Amino acid sequence: MLEASSKSVDLPFNTPSKVASAIATNTNTNTNKNKNKKYQSVFNITALSIFISCVLSGISPEVQAKTVTINSPSKNITVSLSDDADIPEYRVSFNGEDAVLASRMGLVFKSLGEFGSGFEISKSTSDSNQSRWQQPWGEREWVDDHHNKLTTTFSNGNYHFIVEFKVFDDGLGFRYQVPTQKGLASESALNITNELTEFSIPDAHNATAWWIPGRGWNRYEYLYNTSTVNKVDRAHTPFTYKLASGTHLSIHEAALTDYAAMVLDQRRDGTLKADLTPWSDGILVKTKPGFTTPWRTIQIAEKATGLLNSDLILNLNEPNKLGDVSWVEPGKYVGIWWGMHLNENTWGSGDKHGATTSETKRYMDFAAKYGFDGVLVEGWNLGWDGSWFHNGDVFSFTKPYDDFDIDAVSEYGAKQNVRLIGHHETSGSVTNYRNQMNDAYDLYKKHGVTQIKTGYVADGGDIKRVDENGITRHEWHDGQFMVNEYLHSVSEAAKRGISINTHEPVKDTGLRRTYPNWIAREGARGQEFNAWGTPPNNPEHTAILPFTRMLSGPMDFTPGIFNLAPEGLDAVNRVQTTITKQLALYVVLYSPIQMAADLPRNYVERLDAFQFIQDVPTDWSESIAVAGEVGDFVAFARKDRHSDDWYLGALTDEQARSFDVELSFLDNNQQYEAQIYRDGANANWLTNPYDYVIETTKVTSKHNLSLVLAKSGGTAVRFKALN
Ligand code: NOJ
Ligand code: CA
Repeated sequence: MLEASSKSVDLPFNTPSKVASAIATNTNTNTNKNKNKKYQSVFNITALSIFISCVLSGISPEVQAKTVTINSPSKNITVSLSDDADIPEYRVSFNGEDAVLASRMGLVFKSLGEFGSGFEISKSTSDSNQSRWQQPWGEREWVDDHHNKLTTTFSNGNYHFIVEFKVFDDGLGFRYQVPTQKGLASESALNITNELTEFSIPDAHNATAWWIPGRGWNRYEYLYNTSTVNKVDRAHTPFTYKLASGTHLSIHEAALTDYAAMVLDQRRDGTLKADLTPWSDGILVKTKPGFTTPWRTIQIAEKATGLLNSDLILNLNEPNKLGDVSWVEPGKYVGIWWGMHLNENTWGSGDKHGATTSETKRYMDFAAKYGFDGVLVEGWNLGWDGSWFHNGDVFSFTKPYDDFDIDAVSEYGAKQNVRLIGHHETSGSVTNYRNQMNDAYDLYKKHGVTQIKTGYVADGGDIKRVDENGITRHEWHDGQFMVNEYLHSVSEAAKRGISINTHEPVKDTGLRRTYPNWIAREGARGQEFNAWGTPPNNPEHTAILPFTRMLSGPMDFTPGIFNLAPEGLDAVNRVQTTITKQLALYVVLYSPIQMAADLPRNYVERLDAFQFIQDVPTDWSESIAVAGEVGDFVAFARKDRHSDDWYLGALTDEQARSFDVELSFLDNNQQYEAQIYRDGANANWLTNPYDYVIETTKVTSKHNLSLVLAKSGGTAVRFKALN
């Protein structure tokens, strides 16, 4: 890992009193010839310019500054922080335009009251960083972290807290720290009852948002609403919106650990307030002095694709804490899964039981033949009989059904280089799971299992935990209790070389950087809704996901359904895409693990199209969003991490559309064979989803590719490097 220089400078007003307004200018006075100029600029912009304006204004530092300002490295984003009217506030401009209007900051504690109004800026330091870090797996191998940082202390004379801002060219993050201090010893309990953070959106009546409701019974599994921002009530993040000017923004959070998730609640029109998911007793966060909140993040870009090409969330997470993670393996899998969702099989025992020894071996044969490394088996363990949704307490995570021989299948798989992928459905009974976790993970480890899909199917607010006094409590999937519970599972799994793919998770906030074995998660409406959802996923769903849910991290969407309408094209429950849009999803919806979700027999029927699923990698050295508008269409180009091949996936909503993609992303001086899987001339998702064409052509980086997408169609391309 390369680390660049970074420096911290105390500003000349380290007193608890008010400091005069000192708007930073863009003067780039170079004072230190020994340092790389790039790293120099932030010091000049923040510290020095504040100093200069203080001196020029002739005001002594003690009675000064209510505003401190910091720019992004290329100065396209400016953040100012003030204590105007004794209220800590920030505002953000982007290319000179208001991006976030003056917005409150602060926290409220049960015992201490508000850390917000009445607090003034007492100290500010600045810093900068330019470094690169390597992802063990990911959508790109190297990530650039170039930001300027402002650390500001607010004080009311008795107590103080710190607000830290990191400003990048693609957005910013800020977080609070409440250090131990006089009157706040490290062991004293602090209960947070309110977070005052607001995001004040200019001209909300003319800004468009793509959003799902926050704190609903179905967690994150909603179709997206498209509305003006003022029509939003309570929304999950990533919350993506476009200002009237065309600037795209997305509010989210990074590094959510030991804290409650933030939902956005609209107060007055345009004012979105942090609304932390409470514990069952109403407290929002239980903590102690010395704590730091997650980062509140705002991605900002001129174009929609700018949001997709940003690494802001990852950059605001801590580096890998697990050390050597070469055991975390991206890959592709098949599984005993879709049959249950279609009702051909059952999770529970009986004639239609899916998870039998023989069926698992059949899937393993299929996996080995077509190059998949894992077979997911759901319904292998005791507890599924009856209403498993309501009976989480009876799940055993160590006892298989009689017709599932775990020794035999894992041995059978090992001979063919195919791994059993573990499955633990908890139905939200997390104490039952916790009680068996060590034994359950040990059992899988013993059988060579390196990946477990976990499930927390329970309505929002209905996670069942039994507390230390034996009392049953009901928690939210994204409250502090569950935030810690999910991470506990990931950490326990890591000790055994196992990766976790969480379904019904808390939203992703980039923790895969710190815990690379948290390999994927659900956290949105996935493919399963097409089997039984009322309604199923609509054609625009996957044209919105990249700009919303996917900004947070990999999703186990489970693409690749080839029998799009098992009950006929007129049935309600069917897949509302063409076949080649299913292929495009493998490139568009990033995940280091991708499922070929359909039944083997449906792939055998269309082996020509299946070839793309066999070829497409799940680990990339580079990814570029090359075209897209939220809710309309998107195209991604990604380069395989282990070859010189590039891939492209493009998809559209319910509108047919054509556009050209410049192939300038391809390596120069390299010839490729483009293997194109596209909609046929008469394709459309509704009446003719199986009309597709596979063709090849020779291209280089100098060419353009014309894409013609049917209604809810897509194109998938492999650019095979030619020698
Ligand atoms: C919900 C998951 O998303 C799905 O993939 C799984 O099959 C069921 N839970 C049962 O565990
Ligand atoms: Ca689910």
